[in-house]
Amino acid sequence: MRPHESNVLMRVGRWVAVLLALALLAACPGNPAASTWNADELRMLRSLSLDALKPLPPDPSNAVAEDPAAAALGERIYFDTRFSGNGAVACASCHMPDLHFTDGRTFGVGIGTIPLNAMSLVGAAYSPWQTWNGRNDSQWSQALIPLENPLEHGGNRTLFSHLLAENYRAEYEALFGSLPDLADSRRFPRNAGPVDSPAASAAWERMDPADRDAVNRVFANLGKVLAAYERTILPQPARFDRYVASLDDDGRVRGEAPLTVEELAGLRLFMGKGQCADCHNGPRFTNDAFHNTAVPGAPGVPIQRGRIDGVALVKSDPFNCLGAYSDAHPDQCTALRFMVTESDTLLGSMKTPTLRNVAETGPYMHTGQFVTLDDVIQHYNSGGFAIQGHNELTPLSLTDEEAAQLAAFLHTLTEE
Ligand code: HEC
Ligand code: HEC
Repeated sequence: MRPHESNVLMRVGRWVAVLLALALLAACPGNPAASTWNADELRMLRSLSLDALKPLPPDPSNAVAEDPAAAALGERIYFDTRFSGNGAVACASCHMPDLHFTDGRTFGVGIGTIPLNAMSLVGAAYSPWQTWNGRNDSQWSQALIPLENPLEHGGNRTLFSHLLAENYRAEYEALFGSLPDLADSRRFPRNAGPVDSPAASAAWERMDPADRDAVNRVFANLGKVLAAYERTILPQPARFDRYVASLDDDGRVRGEAPLTVEELAGLRLFMGKGQCADCHNGPRFTNDAFHNTAVPGAPGVPIQRGRIDGVALVKSDPFNCLGAYSDAHPDQCTALRFMVTESDTLLGSMKTPTLRNVAETGPYMHTGQFVTLDDVIQHYNSGGFAIQGHNELTPLSLTDEEAAQLAAFLHTLTEE
């Protein structure tokens, strides 16, 4: 063989070797770029996709839940800062549409600072329990809490009734009939309610019980229009959903994959080794249940006892599904009637939050303990240490590369 020929052969040989290696890499099941999913994985992927989101279940406790006029009124009040003790706080102060209805802060800031992290309202209407500890069984009864909390809206029941009469009388009365005769200021003082203000609570005690009941009804109706609006805040498709839609029935991508190799590796970890989908499942990436994930306390703020307090609060809430201001027949209040009230899993448990848009809704956890998604994943990786109750986590032993892949995947849940 002449030197020139052997040179050519060597070069061809090298190319064959490179091509063979590439082909092997592509066929190797460990390589996520070539991801095909087995039947179980495909089923889970489809269950996480927005295409699997069912229509919003009805709320029988709220007769105007589906009424577009109620939603339109609720939307206006949601952004109306007049509905507060200082004229400067609205729901949108802490649940901003541009931030997926969160506020980007560690703690909610209204008239004061509430030592809890504001939750995203996107898709929250699906959840049978509202807030981190589930202290409310409907969005309308939930809305009443920040309205009266001195650190949030800092208002009171007669003030809100007067504000409705002055600013939205026609819209209100078209939905609910006549407002009480609020012009009589001896019967209906400007500021009265069972709130943390000695003057307003004393004025409330002096009111006739029938007038108090009439005001409670107006207050409940205010919550019901806000809830009708909140039901329209629904999750929108993300790159992840486009990826799932691109899979054929053999679990292979048709066309160009909308997710990168790194994101796909993260998705595999999310459903597998990371155990994330044990709790963050379904199209909103939440099981709507309460879990103790051993999140550390935040410095300088009271430790939240979680679901154990939520159970007591929702049971005693006069605005719950079984209460006098609910539109439901008692039989329809199944969540409340069959609520788990005694279990050693209640202490320290919080509601699993949605992970839709999570890359843009930090800080994270009920008191904003973690600033970045990397911090969150580090917590899960270590398994945490429960300061109360029983820790449900086990350490994951993710490598640094796997932790980064998981974080990359979470970024694919942001709506496009
Ligand atoms: C000062 C900030 C602030 C204001 C104002 C505020 N919220 Fe919130 N919101 C929060 C915080 C903090 C939480 C978590 C509360 C908790 O766990 O107890 C929350 C939780 C919620 C939830 C529970 C979501 C879920 O998934 O469980 C809903 C619904 C909600 N707020 C609606 C409203 C509405 C409606 C208004 C206006 C009437 C409002 N919020 C005003 C800060 C605020
Ligand atoms: C045992 C159930 C459970 C498992 C498993 C679980 N989570 Fe969570 N997750 C929760 C609960 C409950 C919270 C809220 C905890 C709190 O605030 O105290 C949460 C909070 C979060 C948050 C913060 C969201 C926010 O809006 O504040 C992220 C991000 C998150 N989880 C991602 C993951 C990832 C990634 C995994 C897998 C490595 C995972 N979770 C595994 C139940 C779980």
